[in-house]
Amino acid sequence: MNTTVVILAAGLGTRMKSKRAKVLHKAGGLPLVEHVVNAALGIAEPERIVVVVGHQAAQVRAALAHTGVRFVEQKEQKGTGHALLMCRDAVPRDGLLVVGYGDVPLLAASTFRRLVDLQANSDMAATLITTRLDDPTGYGRVLIDEAGRVRAIVEQKAATPEQLKVNLINSGIYCFRADLLWRYIDRIEPNNPAHEYYLTDMAEILNAEGYHLGNMEVSDASELLGINTRLELAAVDRILRERKARQLMLDGVTIEKPETVTIDARVSIGRDTVVEPFTRILGATTIGEDCVIGAGAVLCDATLADGVEVAPYTHIEASRLDAGAHIGPFARLRMGAHLEAGSSVGNFVELKKSVLGSGSKAQHLAYLGDSTIGEKVNIGAGTITCNYDGKKKSPTRIGDRAFVGSNSTLVAPVEIGADSYVGAGSVITAAVPEGSLALGRGRQVIKDGWVARRKAGAD
Ligand code: UD1
Ligand code: CA
Repeated sequence: MNTTVVILAAGLGTRMKSKRAKVLHKAGGLPLVEHVVNAALGIAEPERIVVVVGHQAAQVRAALAHTGVRFVEQKEQKGTGHALLMCRDAVPRDGLLVVGYGDVPLLAASTFRRLVDLQANSDMAATLITTRLDDPTGYGRVLIDEAGRVRAIVEQKAATPEQLKVNLINSGIYCFRADLLWRYIDRIEPNNPAHEYYLTDMAEILNAEGYHLGNMEVSDASELLGINTRLELAAVDRILRERKARQLMLDGVTIEKPETVTIDARVSIGRDTVVEPFTRILGATTIGEDCVIGAGAVLCDATLADGVEVAPYTHIEASRLDAGAHIGPFARLRMGAHLEAGSSVGNFVELKKSVLGSGSKAQHLAYLGDSTIGEKVNIGAGTITCNYDGKKKSPTRIGDRAFVGSNSTLVAPVEIGADSYVGAGSVITAAVPEGSLALGRGRQVIKDGWVARRKAGAD
């Protein structure tokens, strides 16, 4: 039977108190709605998944563009029933229609699958996922009949004191027989305190027509947590982080004090790598085997080969480190910096758009920008590439085995030849030929006996 999934994600999410649409807020490193789309991809092809967008529609589309799902716009947010109605011409009128909300990010694909199977093998008009909560405040309450079928769903705002005591809640995930849904959806009316078209009214509507609705009660309520406030966002983020760390540990990564690390969903880490406390490993970072990620390091969109050592408090963004490279503590790589195999970067060194050749070293206090550095080069403490003249950026090239003395200032564009030496404290403004020594500094002057002459008032 064909299955289509509609994900409602048009609301602003007033209770978030945010300028940004709720479904764009991130948990576990991904926008909330992307988690739901990922689960939906477990049961349907992308072209059979429709996301209803409204608030910040362009941003939501952009965030999901890579998934290949389709979009329908709900210009005015008049409720969940109205949001689904917008899809009438975008989805098949037969088969099964799964509806999920974009703010329920912990839902697993396997739960979607169970729901669809249950509905497909029943004679119900629809089946919905429910759970029991100690504190059901805010959720729609599910009323069931003697046979365990769903009689009605009452929203918090419309419920009687008696109904508010019900702790069986509506998760917001349903599987409908598409033919019946589309035949009766127009019967939903905004006759509630919020004047919204509640999708949940379909329960009573279908019952009135003599159909029955199934109840799929799940015991793990955490999977159904709907995000309405930033408190719930933090709770879900924590759960997703724990899951990610757990999976990595089961796959052979050592994580010290896992409750302190932040690792995004898409990150991959190889076996026997050690992740120390308070690290943040974000975006599309990939880390090889046998690496060490030191305490407090922040890595975003970084690529690390095997055996890379990142010492504590190092910041690496959109950069690459080849096998056996070492960096830190307190170092920074950004904008496509590339440390080749076995190279080493030490404390308070920054590399931007620069390549450090294999076996080369920059161990202390340096800025290397727009530079290409060969193999086995030594960059002395305090070396600065002056790559910016206030208008444009210029490149620096340093040949293999060159030795750049401490506190050198390399005024770009400039080239330092292979096997050459730059004397400490030099300001280099012209090319240094291969194999030569360049000195670009004032000559030292000694005045013998100067102190005594000064004391005598003579100087
Ligand atoms: C909804 C359910 C409630 C359930 C709860 C589970 C209804 C009427 N109530 O309540 O029974 O217990 O979810 O989390 O359905 N949306 C649109 N367009 C709209 C309105 C909402 O796309 O016009 C989207 C929102 O972006 C959101 C989702 O639908 O992703 C749910 O909306 P929300 O306002 O959070 O519903 P709840 O009040 O939580
Ligand atoms: Ca909600």
